[in-house]
Amino acid sequence: MQKILVARPIFPDVIERLKQYFDVDWHQGDVLSVDELTRRLADKDGALTAGDPVGAAVLAAAPRLRVVSNMAVGYNNFDMAAFNAANVLGTNTPDVLNESTADFGWALMMAAARRIAESEHWLRAGQWQKWIYDGFLGTDIYGSTLGVIGMGRIGQALARRAKGFNMQVIYHNRSRVAPEIEAELNAEYASKQDLLKRADHVVLVLPYTKENHHTIGAAEFAQMKPSATLTNIARGGIVDDAALVEALRTKQIAAAGLDVYEGEPNLNPDLLTVPNVVLTPHIASATEATRRAMANLAADNLIAALGEGPRAGRPPNPINPDVIGKARS
Ligand code: DGY
Repeated sequence: MQKILVARPIFPDVIERLKQYFDVDWHQGDVLSVDELTRRLADKDGALTAGDPVGAAVLAAAPRLRVVSNMAVGYNNFDMAAFNAANVLGTNTPDVLNESTADFGWALMMAAARRIAESEHWLRAGQWQKWIYDGFLGTDIYGSTLGVIGMGRIGQALARRAKGFNMQVIYHNRSRVAPEIEAELNAEYASKQDLLKRADHVVLVLPYTKENHHTIGAAEFAQMKPSATLTNIARGGIVDDAALVEALRTKQIAAAGLDVYEGEPNLNPDLLTVPNVVLTPHIASATEATRRAMANLAADNLIAALGEGPRAGRPPNPINPDVIGKARS
């Protein structure tokens, strides 16, 4: 039987599925250190990860490893150049999380714009004595301009919801989406600078890459409206968190909603000291149904990539399909 490592706690019934095909080493404790991950992978044919960093050194120490299946759509934890050099397949879990993640983007954006977390903390602290005409004034959503940076599948799901709020949708992306998608979403392509100037609510849904590091920092906050909000449901590192703290403190922008952070799960401690930011612990895809779908899709990818099950040899979501069928190097 081939051996696999499941590097994270996941749904036990998914582990049972994997056990039908593999000898499973299931790590259920805290996140594995790189050293421990390397050690546990040394004799494995495949692995299921969720954000664990896998690069050249880890792959070199695991000569049998042929596939690493990430339980996430984002795979910035994989060094894909190293995967390609070693002929190791990487897989991810796109699509199944689009709607839950888009819902959550809206929840964060609305919470930031309407100061929901901030006012709730104030209420819980027993500070509510009377109705105040100018208490917790926020920024409207209905009829405003939504600026989506990153118009992939989640960005599109997010933009689709804007119709019900009568919003104008502008977007920025590496390349323009197909005209029929622009028409369906009533979305106008804009340069990043134009989007930052015009949007009332900027939402980030782009993958993290070296090029996207600090896509939003001090220079970008300077271009945004003082009434604008910024929501990040993409990845930490896309926003310069220190610059964001400053922009929130000085009211250069009105508010922010963050689900992801530079260096998470550790975050810039200054973020905890500014009231006009809503902070959640990377849970945009966290509904029971969606996390189950992600776990099962990650298992499907692993099973198929290791030549087992009904899709043997044809994993549904290969990131680097060119390595399929090539000998490990
Ligand atoms: C993803 O799928 O990339 C999410 O950020 C993990 O929930």
